[in-house]
Amino acid sequence: MKKCISNILSFLLVSATLSLVSFSQSFTYENSIVLPTTSHDDDNLVLPAVLDRDGDPLKIGERYIIENPLIGGGAVYLDNIGHLKCPNAVLQHVPTPQFSGIGTPVLFVHKSDDADVVREMSAIYIMFVDRAPLCVNETVWKVDEKQFVVTGGTIGNESDLFKIMKTDDWVIKDLKNIYKLMHCPSQLGCKDIGRNFENEYPNLVTVEKNYIPFVFIKANYA
Ligand SMILES: *[C@@H]1O[C@H](CO)[C@@H](O)[C@H](O)[C@H]1NC(C)=O
Ligand SMILES: *[C@@H]1O[C@H](CO)[C@@H](O)[C@H](O)[C@H]1NC(C)=O
Repeated sequence: MKKCISNILSFLLVSATLSLVSFSQSFTYENSIVLPTTSHDDDNLVLPAVLDRDGDPLKIGERYIIENPLIGGGAVYLDNIGHLKCPNAVLQHVPTPQFSGIGTPVLFVHKSDDADVVREMSAIYIMFVDRAPLCVNETVWKVDEKQFVVTGGTIGNESDLFKIMKTDDWVIKDLKNIYKLMHCPSQLGCKDIGRNFENEYPNLVTVEKNYIPFVFIKANYA
């Protein structure tokens, strides 16, 4: 939690500096950080809620499809690409017959607080739902040694934490709530999530650049 607070503080510091710069250039910088004082948390800092495609806050306990909204993109899904006992590959559908589909719903789990919505830059676990009973322990996302996103993580393991951050890098018709996903193992900073085809599957991986944008869609639509 300490670490989390100091992350938030340094983020705020940067934002504040940016605001000052913007102010001195006399145009309005739309700071994405709000500082209301209505939080049950000690620090009283409340970051903006992550919004789904409809503009509703992402809720803990609700199922969502994570989708790359770019042309040629698709929903994130779970697949077994190694004849394993339990599937563990976290892939992204692409519009070809082999890789098309509607995605696998996920749930979000907070690292530390009991808030009922997911906020930007808050540490969360991501887990697939709808698993065969034998594979219930292989639903939580993690990043493996090769930097591939896979399942097999553990709620409570700080190496398996992710964060969601708003991005304005893409302008996509009719879509306002576009985010990037980051893998944020504690103490080690964050790495963006992108995609590669290294092993001929559209894997989610951590990347240095060229991350991919995502939107969140209520899974009961699917
Ligand atoms: C899942 O993990 C729990 C706790 O470690 C264990 O008790 C349970 O047997 C596991 N279930 C399966 C199907 O592996
Ligand atoms: C936590 O995750 C790391 C990285 O995946 C792994 O090496 C470690 O064994 C995990 N620890 C536990 C307690 O599962």
